[in-house]
Amino acid sequence: MTVTAKRFFSSPGSQADLALECEFFSNLKMRNGTFKLTRPSRFATLEAEFGPIVRDRVKNGPCAVLDIGASTGLTTVELADFLRAQGAVPQVVGTDLFIEAHLVDLAPGIHVLSDPEGWPLQYGVAGIGIRAWVRRLDFITLAALPLLLARSLLQPRLRRRIAAGASESVRMESRALSGRPIRLLENDIFVPETGFEQRFDFIRAANILNLGYFGPDRLRIAIANIRAYCRGPGALLLVVKTAGQRHDGTLFELGEAGIFEVLDRIGNGSEIEDLVLEAGPEPRRREAS
Ligand SMILES: C[S@@+](CC[C@H](N)C(=O)[O-])C[C@H]1O[C@@H](n2cnc3c(N)ncnc32)[C@H](O)[C@@H]1O
Repeated sequence: MTVTAKRFFSSPGSQADLALECEFFSNLKMRNGTFKLTRPSRFATLEAEFGPIVRDRVKNGPCAVLDIGASTGLTTVELADFLRAQGAVPQVVGTDLFIEAHLVDLAPGIHVLSDPEGWPLQYGVAGIGIRAWVRRLDFITLAALPLLLARSLLQPRLRRRIAAGASESVRMESRALSGRPIRLLENDIFVPETGFEQRFDFIRAANILNLGYFGPDRLRIAIANIRAYCRGPGALLLVVKTAGQRHDGTLFELGEAGIFEVLDRIGNGSEIEDLVLEAGPEPRRREAS
């Protein structure tokens, strides 16, 4: 039985509960179709594969790190530990489009976990957590209808309640971040962030820049932003997509000409490798609105 958001956010939890924490967050689907899905130690094999090559490049000390689409920041903490084990002194920023959320009480025993726009992420009914998103099977079992109806009826009401301050703010972040000098910020990878320009030595985009989530044109915008966030030649970029135990990813290095080059691959390499390699140092474009 899925724990309700209210119960989850009200219990102090501990580091030992990280698998349970992941289970809770992984069931949340964001309004742009992406999931908060993450897992502890998800990248152990990938880190073993890329460790030596990363060590060669980061061992000289300070290393500014950007983890894009960091979800709750759990694997961001693991990335910091990995880089420290390679000899770096990492200063880490994790970003995600969806970190702030709200608990809204609707009636006794009924509450909703919602994003700031009123998009329901989970319903809590009589102590049971119910997912708010619709899966294909729901169209066969007819469970889709009440879910779609609930969302369209509730969204304006939730948005109003949140705007009126009649909600409890929560942050969808991991307890593993507690006491760690890692900043987890809301940021959209499709929107240029001038404060990030030429700041980072190591950038990771894990399970976010997937063709299943975004089309090539949008991905080109994200890649152009990432390129601008690299400190300069020698900066590393890791793009990976994970399915169960399998990783398909590419480790890139920004070359002197301002173009990414492949350093190493795992599995079949990143499915967006061609898009990354074609990204030149031309001015960035804003996403068309
Ligand atoms: C599948 S999770 C990946 C989590 C983690 N990187 C990992 O691999 O375990 C994808 C994350 O990307 C975030 N996301 C979706 N769209 C985004 C955007 N435009 N900018 C930044 N983050 C985004 C989602 O909120 C979600 O937390």
